Amino acid sequence: HSVAILGAPFSKGQKRRGVEHGPKAIRDAGLVERLSSLEYPVHDYGDLNFQHLDKDEPFMHVPFPRTVGRANQLLSSAVSRAVGAGHTCIMLGGDHSLAIGSVEGHAQQCPDLCLIWVDAHADINTPLTSPSGNLHGQSVAFLLKELRGKMPEIPGFSWMKPFLSSTDLVYIGLRDVDPGEYYILKNLGIQCFTMRDIDRMGIHRVMEVTLDHLLARKQKPIHLSFDIDAFDPSLAPATGTPVNGGLTYREGIYITEEIHNTGLLSAMDVVEVNPVLGANREAVKATAGLAVDVIASSLGQTREGTHMAFQEIP
Ligand code: ARG
Ligand code: MN
Ligand code: MN
Ligand code: MN
Repeated sequence: HSVAILGAPFSKGQKRRGVEHGPKAIRDAGLVERLSSLEYPVHDYGDLNFQHLDKDEPFMHVPFPRTVGRANQLLSSAVSRAVGAGHTCIMLGGDHSLAIGSVEGHAQQCPDLCLIWVDAHADINTPLTSPSGNLHGQSVAFLLKELRGKMPEIPGFSWMKPFLSSTDLVYIGLRDVDPGEYYILKNLGIQCFTMRDIDRMGIHRVMEVTLDHLLARKQKPIHLSFDIDAFDPSLAPATGTPVNGGLTYREGIYITEEIHNTGLLSAMDVVEVNPVLGANREAVKATAGLAVDVIASSLGQTREGTHMAFQEIP
C-alpha cells in the first residue's frame, strides 16, 4: 500500500502562535526522505489552505468555534479522500483540535475504526468542563457517541455527528487530566494508561493490553493520534503545553512499532509541534526530528533492520 502526507497548518484550537508552522518543521526535518527508504510509495499532498473566518465570536469561553469547525470540515474531506484512495493518511498538525476532522474523515471510509490517543492530556473536556476554553483540549468529546447529551451545539460543527464508542478508544501517556475530564474517563470506563501505569506495568504490557482491548473481538483499522507532548519535554521541548515526566524515546518508539506490527494502522496524526516555542534551533530540530521518528516507526522502520528484497550481501 501507499502513504499520503497531508499538512494541516492550523492553530486556532489554542491560543499560542506558531503551531501552524508544524508541518513545515516536520518536513524540514526530513520526513519524505526518511519515508522513501521504506517500502511503499509516498504522496505528499502539501498543505491544506485554512481560512480564518471573521465575525467568529466566542461560544461561551471557547474561542474561534466557526474557524475551528470549518477547518476540520475541510480536513475531514481531505482525509476521507486519501483513505478512500487506499493510502495510509499521515496528518501533520497543527494543534490537536485537528483530530476532530482527521478521525471523522477516516471514519467516513472506515466506520469501525478504533482510536489510540497518545498524549500527556486527555483532550476530552466539553465546553462546560474546559478550564481554558481551547478546542484542542476538547477534540475527543466531539467524537464520542456517549457524550452526545453533554455537548452543547457549538457553532461551526453542525456538519458532523459523534460516531465513536468509548470502548474503541485507548489513551497512553496521560499525566495532566482536568477534574471534569477525570470524571468523564471514569464515568465512561475508558481504557487509560497514565505515565504511572507505564511505570508500574512497563510499556510492553501496556501495548499488549491496549491492542487486546481494541482488537481481540474484531480486527479494526487503527487511527493513531499522537500529540508530541506525550514525550518528555526534554525530548520534545517545542510544544505549547509541555508536562514533565513524559514518555522516553524508547517507550514512544515501542508504542509505534507495536502499532505497525498489527498491520492495521490506517491513519495517523502528529500534532502540537510548535517551532516558535523552541528555545533555539536545536530544540526545534529535536522536536520535529522526533515527529519524523514516530511517523517512520509507525510505518515500519525497525530498530532491528530489514532484509533487502532480491539483493545479495555486497
Ligand atoms: N486540558 C487542558 C485544556 O483543556 C490542556 C489541553 C492541552 N491539549 C493539547 N492538545 N495539547 O485546555
Ligand atoms: Mn497534549
Ligand atoms: Mn493533545
Ligand atoms: Mn511492514
